[in-house]
Amino acid sequence: MTAAMSTGTGDILQVSDLKTYFPVKSRGLLRRTVGQVKAVDGIDLSISPGETLGLVGESGSGKTTAARSILMLVRPTDGKITIDGQEVTGLSPKAMVPIRRKAQMIFQDPYNALNPRHTVGGIISAPFRVQQVTPPGGVKNTVLEIMQRVGLNPEHYNRYPNEFSGGQRQRIGIARAIALNPRLIVCDEPVSALDVSIQAQILNLLNDLQKEFGIAYLFVAHDLAVVRQISHRVAVMYLGRIMETAPRQIIYSAPLHPYTHSLLSAVPIPDPKRQAHRKSRIVLQGDLPSPIDPPSGCVFRTRCFQAHEKCAIEVPPLVEVAPGHKVACHFPIETKDLPARVEVDTALEEEAAGPVAGPHFIEPGPPH
Ligand SMILES: Nc1ncnc2c1ncn2[C@@H]1O[C@H](COP(=O)(O)OP(=O)(O)OP(=O)(O)O)[C@@H](O)[C@H]1O
Ligand SMILES: [Mg+2]
Repeated sequence: MTAAMSTGTGDILQVSDLKTYFPVKSRGLLRRTVGQVKAVDGIDLSISPGETLGLVGESGSGKTTAARSILMLVRPTDGKITIDGQEVTGLSPKAMVPIRRKAQMIFQDPYNALNPRHTVGGIISAPFRVQQVTPPGGVKNTVLEIMQRVGLNPEHYNRYPNEFSGGQRQRIGIARAIALNPRLIVCDEPVSALDVSIQAQILNLLNDLQKEFGIAYLFVAHDLAVVRQISHRVAVMYLGRIMETAPRQIIYSAPLHPYTHSLLSAVPIPDPKRQAHRKSRIVLQGDLPSPIDPPSGCVFRTRCFQAHEKCAIEVPPLVEVAPGHKVACHFPIETKDLPARVEVDTALEEEAAGPVAGPHFIEPGPPH
């Protein structure tokens, strides 16, 4: 890498104004493009080494498209992506090969993500073959060490993925992702398909690996309860845009975007007594609008409990309101000012001051 290609920020990932649109084709023989699905519509993100950014939003908000675009598994329509100082936007699949040593992906579905015809050993050693890397000590010994490190029994080297449970399969996926010592792993809902107790084990493993190797994670999830357990910072996405981003404790204790308030009100409180006293939840009205024809102005306005006329006219810019805390809303609202019918539990504010007392909570370490 030349000095001219380096961004000089020290971030492992920088994303600016990323847009990924999918064409909508007409029926019939001609299959003309008649519209665009604006799955990701201008997002900015950055992650520093050893840090976890949680990317959260409901189904269809564009999280997977953003995650895959960042690793060029889907071609972005516009914007700039820089991984470890090197711009990757526009690189051919061949030119991406060396980048994949530094940036890997873990997928949601551990059943489909692993080739059923390959053994565990074959799957985890694949990155060495693709990258033509022979680690000191040889590939097989290294793979056996990695298996041990992620909690797999090295005796299972010659077994096939379908012989394993969901949690074990996700460990195989993690082993494959860390094989080449990447600096960034994009994790797309890696625990969503798993039981809660298994989720905690996998999140613990990811946290431990981060501490040990200084890996940065972009961690995608659809609810704030999971990202809370692993993220240093959180970005809230809605209909292809970032609505709010802040350090973890700020997102949970002092959110300002009505959408963040509504997502938070769905997060269960670990203490059953406080859960019982939770005030009314903010229930979002209607479905996520179509990303083919998003609402004018603020895309969230059609489901917002306090939308004003301005919200239909002007797109709210993502404005920094405090260090690291950005919000895209014309009328940001503090928890204490929420109207009674959408009041969120202030218990969340108390919890955010210290570690959450939930049975599965894992405090992420400081960024490396
Ligand atoms: N290949 C594609 N072609 C056309 N539209 C697509 C394609 N992939 C995704 N979309 C659309 O883009 C939007 C965002 O989808 P995406 O899968 O990125 O959302 P998500 O936030 O990951 O949702 P989920 O939580 O359900 O995984 C959706 O409207 C989806 O239908
Ligand atoms: Mg998804």
